[in-house]
Amino acid sequence: MATLSDRYADWTQKLSRHHQTHLLRFWTELTDGERAQLLDDLDQVDFELCASLIETHVRQRPTVHIPEHIEPPPSYPAEPGPDRADLYNRARRTGEEALRAGRVAAFTVAGGQGTRLGFDGPKGAFSISPVRNATLFQLFAEGLLGVERRYGRRPRWYIMTSPVNHAQTTAFFADHRYFGLRADEVVFFQQGQMPAFLPDGRMALAERHRLALSPDGHGGSLRALRERGALDDMRAHGIDTISYFQVDNPLVRTIDPLFIGLHLLTGSEMSSKAVTKAFDTEKVGNFCLVDGRVTVIEYSDLPESLATARNADGSRRFDAGSIAIHVLSRSFVERLTAPGARVQLPWHRAEKKVPTVDDAGRVAEPTAPNAVKLELFVFDAIPLAERPLVLFTRREEEFSPVKNAEGVDSPATTRRDLVRRAARWLEACGVPVPRGVDGEPAAPLEISPAFALDVEDLRARLATMPPLKVEPGRPLLLA
Ligand code: UD1
Repeated sequence: MATLSDRYADWTQKLSRHHQTHLLRFWTELTDGERAQLLDDLDQVDFELCASLIETHVRQRPTVHIPEHIEPPPSYPAEPGPDRADLYNRARRTGEEALRAGRVAAFTVAGGQGTRLGFDGPKGAFSISPVRNATLFQLFAEGLLGVERRYGRRPRWYIMTSPVNHAQTTAFFADHRYFGLRADEVVFFQQGQMPAFLPDGRMALAERHRLALSPDGHGGSLRALRERGALDDMRAHGIDTISYFQVDNPLVRTIDPLFIGLHLLTGSEMSSKAVTKAFDTEKVGNFCLVDGRVTVIEYSDLPESLATARNADGSRRFDAGSIAIHVLSRSFVERLTAPGARVQLPWHRAEKKVPTVDDAGRVAEPTAPNAVKLELFVFDAIPLAERPLVLFTRREEEFSPVKNAEGVDSPATTRRDLVRRAARWLEACGVPVPRGVDGEPAAPLEISPAFALDVEDLRARLATMPPLKVEPGRPLLLA
């Protein structure tokens, strides 16, 4: 093993080649432990990659090229018309068979910092359910237990964390006995990190002995799946289909047989769920067809003329909003990440407030964005996929993310939407739900995904129980 002074000598040379020697400017004041820590941080950085990104993305803003010809993408509706009823039935059966055969795994990206929510901890540990206050992670685990109850096979669950929250996340699962799953069925792995840059291209120091590193975006999940051994683990367990979702949306169907089946039957390499946008400029990615390839254009990049465009019948032309639920074929991720594969997802630049040390070694909290962060987005893989598919789903059934502390996409709106969905399911099963003058259910209602995965499932469960009565003001839990 190289000694500290050997490593220091190597790094002095390398940093000098890359004009980053300022990173060692406090060296003489550091303890040996701090020195090792700093060099470990440096080891994580791909300096060749950063050198070119500094030119193209840091010192200048990359021009976002918006092509001239952008069309709405082909898509599958939430409810099939008569022409597709047979396809949807076959797809559901195909998906169920894949589940029973153990070919499908769940994959949650949970490496983000959750800054907007202002919650101190991994976002998945945030309590959200309306009656039990169960956490996001617990609800996802119960979704998998529901799949097992219904299809006889419990899917493996891969969870991507980041150095920011890995230890806390794994400890949280251990403390909660993996929410009824077996410890060896839940596979945690960490994503990569990128340094934050000062506008002049220098990498920022978070402390005298720490680089300002942050997770490299959910698009980093593809490389992390390979490098951290998750793809090998999937192969060893006979898994060829990955059900991808974000940590912030407790309404997600962790694994949806129809979606999986359509993906498999159509030979898609990467499939996506969409919802009808709530309004023209809603802050979601927009599915588009660009040069014949399905592509997601972030709300911030979609020209206003397109965001507001209308069809002849007055409906919104670009109406498919991304809810960050995908199915990926394992072979697709293998192809994209194979050694020597010449595929690179584009880097996205964001200007952020990053605490950095000043020349005196003091940490300064910036009041305005002072640094550039670079991230990869997983949906940029869609244009690289063969036969990508977009399936609409109903927002009220499947999408209500927790992103902000208050207002839109906040704990209050997510809880409200969980209660509304439970009420709709109960009513669809013939159970009357009392409602207040505002039309909202008059009691907190919660249906654990372990109890029922959808209306059909709920109907079957209720048929085996004494009749249920929902009373105003009295919480109802089905778990
Ligand atoms: C995201 C999508 C947007 C979509 C919306 C749906 C982007 C840029 N935009 O918005 O198109 O309509 O969700 O809710 O993604 N994560 C990691 N590692 C990272 C960064 C993020 O694992 O390095 C995870 C987070 O833990 C979270 C998810 O990715 O589960 C979303 O990240 P976030 O940055 O909150 O995306 P949004 O801007 O909310």
